[in-house]
Amino acid sequence: MSTPTEITVALLGGGTVGSQVARLLGESAGDLTARVGVPLRLTGVGVRDTSKARDGIDPALITGDLDTLASSGANIVVEVMGGIEPARSLILAAMAAGSSVVTANKALLAADGHTLHAAAEQYGVDLYYEASVAGAIPLLRPLRESLAGDKVRRVMGIVNGTTNFILTKMDEEGADYAEVLAEAQALGYAEADPTADVEGHDAQAKAAILAGLAFHTRVSMDDVSCEGISKVSAQDVQAATDMGFVIKLLAIAELSEDEKGVIVRVHPSMVPRNHPLAGVRGAFNAVFVEAESAGQVMFYGRGAGGAPTASAVLGDIVATSRNRVSGTRGPGESTYADLEVRGIGDAVTRYYVNLHVADRPGVLAAVAQAFADNGVSIQTVRQDGHGDEAGLIVRTHTARDSDLAATMDQLRRNDAVRDVVGVMRVEGEDGR
Ligand code: NAP
Ligand code: HSE
Repeated sequence: MSTPTEITVALLGGGTVGSQVARLLGESAGDLTARVGVPLRLTGVGVRDTSKARDGIDPALITGDLDTLASSGANIVVEVMGGIEPARSLILAAMAAGSSVVTANKALLAADGHTLHAAAEQYGVDLYYEASVAGAIPLLRPLRESLAGDKVRRVMGIVNGTTNFILTKMDEEGADYAEVLAEAQALGYAEADPTADVEGHDAQAKAAILAGLAFHTRVSMDDVSCEGISKVSAQDVQAATDMGFVIKLLAIAELSEDEKGVIVRVHPSMVPRNHPLAGVRGAFNAVFVEAESAGQVMFYGRGAGGAPTASAVLGDIVATSRNRVSGTRGPGESTYADLEVRGIGDAVTRYYVNLHVADRPGVLAAVAQAFADNGVSIQTVRQDGHGDEAGLIVRTHTARDSDLAATMDQLRRNDAVRDVVGVMRVEGEDGR
């Protein structure tokens, strides 16, 4: 293969991320040429609304014909449109035309990454997607390359900027949920449909991608247990504060106890205020990777927003361009471990349970008995009386999630339990 004299780049999407990618390709042209060895040339920017003014993008490059742009045979097609279709068809068409693909589309990768990887293999092109998880933070390449010789046991982190922005404002300012969400949208952090952020689906997709790379196994979005932050109440936030904790939406992927499976989950968690994840504020993300030889490695940075995400996209464009220039390809999909993906019932963690109970003799004993019946060991209990009712906050030692669920079923059937105010997993107490 002869060395190309330039690298052509077609951009599908010119929104929050795409407009920043176009800007950086123009502003950093000299440096990019020096780093790649040949110049990079933007050949087109595909959008839905061609009449919209787009700062920093040459109007002559704007097109509404994404099919033609995707199949134009550009060296690299960058997909920053989002959604499943038409993004998937356009990526497949681009690969069939011999283009390498850079994408930030976690929803598509988590739903049908295998199809994209298989097509990249079939057509001998690259598929890079660093920007799909944790914005600007170099995380997928370290997992795919730097830690490729180690055995990862656990990945845990904050991977959604919008919800971390909301939870930070609720914690620090007692802010109103809806108002903060609108602010996150205005700052370009939220997905086109912000339900994906608040209901945890964005983090769910990212957790699937992380788990697949970390454990060399195929994990799709549906394999990931998911609960968002829409049910986190001001009472939960206050209870967390009173106990010296903060609430974070965590994505956790870990080997099962017998190491034959992986458990992948996304849910709000209480984290001790002295844990490094507790200090991750606003739209920042942070991810801990625990590997057998490396020990704990932490990745931290801006997890959302146009320019930070474009930085990761540009890194992939440079990597892909270098591969083109040297006639090589980057690593493909690694799924040889073929681990069983287990449900959240197999997860082992600690819990916080907040109950309103009748304040009469024997109730505390009955509550304790429900925990004992299901093999869940209580760590602490705090009781506050309010007339004929008492507030009861129970914290447990580590227990299986299915055992805690059975405990909660038993408690809900008990007449003395007037209300289950909150149940939340507690992570990071043992320094992990
Ligand atoms: P966005 O602001 O909504 O931009 C999407 C762009 O794609 C727009 O230019 C839109 O055209 C175009 N587009 C979408 N569907 C189209 C269609 N069917 N036909 C033609 N054009 C279409 O989204 P974004 O925030 O840049 O996100 C893009 C991708 O990056 C998503 O996969 C997202 O998950 C991912 N991502 C975003 C962030 C972030 O912080 N924003 C971070 C990491 C990853 P119009 O402009 O005409 O509407
Ligand atoms: N909506 C996403 C977030 C964008 O808030 O983290 C980054 O993937």
